[in-house]
Amino acid sequence: MLWIKAFHIVFVASWFAGLFYLPRIFVNLAMVPPASVAERERLLLMSRKLYRFTGILAVPAIAFGLWLWLGYGIGRGLGNGWMHAKLFVVLLVVGYHHACGALLRRFERGESRRGHVWYRWFNEAPVLLLLAAVVLVVVKPF
Ligand code: HEM
Repeated sequence: MLWIKAFHIVFVASWFAGLFYLPRIFVNLAMVPPASVAERERLLLMSRKLYRFTGILAVPAIAFGLWLWLGYGIGRGLGNGWMHAKLFVVLLVVGYHHACGALLRRFERGESRRGHVWYRWFNEAPVLLLLAAVVLVVVKPF
């Protein structure tokens, strides 16, 4: 079980590395002057590759989590409110991941109208989600 947990943590950390960095590239994309076509294309290429790779990392992160939950029964049954709360946080993380994909497609179509400050705030959301998930699973407050 500890091996599964170790791999769960490694893939969760790698998944979040992508979720932290991708919106950081969006901040840069939002600051590119319209005439800088090459710079925009390079940032778009970086975003596309990072989005694809981050999506691949999310699969084992979630699979190892499901294994711990359903396979080893950790957090199953009554009196495990922390696990239900954590599953809700995971749903939000998956939603955030999809939102990054939608924003990327908007950048690709040249339809993004939001400024870099908006993306800086958007970039803070995974920090709060990671904090919530780790506190729930380690402290188990309820
Ligand atoms: C947002 C994504 C996730 C984050 C940030 C995350 C974070 C963590 C961390 C840091 C641990 C280690 C806790 C410890 O040392 O005991 C852990 C364990 C665990 N995770 Fe996740 N996880 C995520 C997704 C999932 C998913 C999708 C599931 C299941 C559906 C899951 C189920 C579990 C279970 C059952 C444990 C073991 C808890 C225990 O030993 O008390 N996790 N998670």
